[in-house]
Amino acid sequence: MARIAVVGSINMDLVTTVGRRPEPGETVSGEGFALVPGGKGSNQAIAAQRAGGDVEFVGAVGDDVFAAALREVLSKAGVGVSRLRAVDGPSGIAAIVVDGGGENSIIVVAGANGRMTELTVADRETIAAADVLMCQLEIPVATVLAAARHARANGTVVMLNPSPVRELPAEVWAEIDVAVVNEGEGEQLAAALSGVPHVITTLGAAGASYRGPRGEMLSQPGIPVRVVDTTGAGDTFTGALAAHWHRGPRTALAWACTAGALATTKLGASASIPELAEIRRALAEAGAR
Ligand code: RIB
Repeated sequence: MARIAVVGSINMDLVTTVGRRPEPGETVSGEGFALVPGGKGSNQAIAAQRAGGDVEFVGAVGDDVFAAALREVLSKAGVGVSRLRAVDGPSGIAAIVVDGGGENSIIVVAGANGRMTELTVADRETIAAADVLMCQLEIPVATVLAAARHARANGTVVMLNPSPVRELPAEVWAEIDVAVVNEGEGEQLAAALSGVPHVITTLGAAGASYRGPRGEMLSQPGIPVRVVDTTGAGDTFTGALAAHWHRGPRTALAWACTAGALATTKLGASASIPELAEIRRALAEAGAR
């Protein structure tokens, strides 16, 4: 079982479902509303745990009405929360609109995630003890860099999902072993990604591709599903990938594509992350395990 440290974000997602997203200046009637715990870090942590990993989450919630539910979603999933701190002020939130085709628009307000500016001694011990460190870009980049450097120095594989996408200093890229991007991120970050040993590109319904350190390529087809909501599908992909990375890219990609596809079949980020048995069943149906 892979030990995974996630240093990342946790948000309360305010999810509105609507037939068609409004144009600028337009008001439309929504069909439903739900509060669903999310955040790229938390989603990836839960996905990795459910896919068979042993996960510790390093992050922050605020002191507001959302904090308890955010903590609970991680601990109920079996993710370690001893490194989850509470800070003054609001928790992170994401205002999400999901349209009838399952596509989403997201506005993230960092809240407590923006206060993740220091790694404690215990955080560093958690990172050093892990097989894989997973980071995203919803906490300060300086903290991502500090976590990645500490991981590298201790032989922990550094996996980065550079999302929400932005340009990063070269010193961050120098610490990354594995990058997980979607096609848009891949195009925008092409130059930086050329120096990363392992790059995985998610292709939506078409699955994913892999490029290794010697230029070797693999591709993994998607599995057919009825899409309800794509929110968190990339996070589920990344979490499952981390949990199976030690088995090699072919196996890890199969698990990631299967888990990611299953995550699109339900509404809400954390609510849609598949359990281990569901992933195994889908893999068996697809003839791969
Ligand atoms: O990747 C999906 C996530 O992005 C949502 O859960 C939302 O919180 C935003 O961080």
